[in-house]
Amino acid sequence: MTTKMGQLYEGKAKRVYATDDEGRYIVEYKDDATAFNGAKRGTIAGKGVINNQMSNALFKLLESKGVRTHFLEQLSDRETLVRAVKIVPLEIIIRNVAAGSFSKRYGVEEGQELKCPTLEYSLKNDALNDPLINDSHILALGIATEKELDAIRTMAYKVNDVLKEFFAGIGVKLIDFKIEAGRLPDGEIILADEISPDTCRFWDAKTNEKLDKDRFRRDLGGVEEAYHEIFSRINQ
Ligand code: TMP
Ligand code: ASP
Repeated sequence: MTTKMGQLYEGKAKRVYATDDEGRYIVEYKDDATAFNGAKRGTIAGKGVINNQMSNALFKLLESKGVRTHFLEQLSDRETLVRAVKIVPLEIIIRNVAAGSFSKRYGVEEGQELKCPTLEYSLKNDALNDPLINDSHILALGIATEKELDAIRTMAYKVNDVLKEFFAGIGVKLIDFKIEAGRLPDGEIILADEISPDTCRFWDAKTNEKLDKDRFRRDLGGVEEAYHEIFSRINQ
């Protein structure tokens, strides 16, 4: 039994706690929702419970397909025991279909299929508004090594292959998603943070209805319903 100790960090959607084992943390998912770097704030009732369980289910699926993740054990509705990692301060974003900032930046209509998946990085830095960053910048600034970037790239595309196929099977198009990588003490890169409607775009395969946090970001209504819908499809 691992004992929860002091809070190490509070993010926008989760808190991270130390435990009596220095190799393990406990993450606790909140219902708080923010968008546009915290400029828009709100609550999505029950989000923490859904994101915790959904992320754990997807991490288990990914583990079964050979992706190493921080997931260890779900402790409660909102709490999960994870491997302690140091987060690489990058948002790692894969896109299958144009949407969001990609559509805006390149003047491409939302919903346009991309000829191949794209990979991009943003620097996790709220004060700078998470600017886009490229491989050479990452190497030059010492944010990650060449070997780590190789591992991150391989992991990101593998996550995409596994999740795209899984979501297609439950009638959902995986438009894009953001993941984060963590370093274990021995330097190994593993999948960390979460995979949830907060961090992915999910569109219904038939209707293109949005089943993710864009409903909150864009004031589309039906936010809680969308989280429940995607969660119930995963549990089919
Ligand atoms: P974007 O189109 O706004 O750049 O978002 C790309 C993907 O990343 C989308 O699935 C939502 C996710 N995302 C996060 O998880 N956190 C963020 O802070 C942002 C801006 C996007
Ligand atoms: N992480 C963003 C924020 O900082 C929210 C988002 O668009 O997902 O508020």
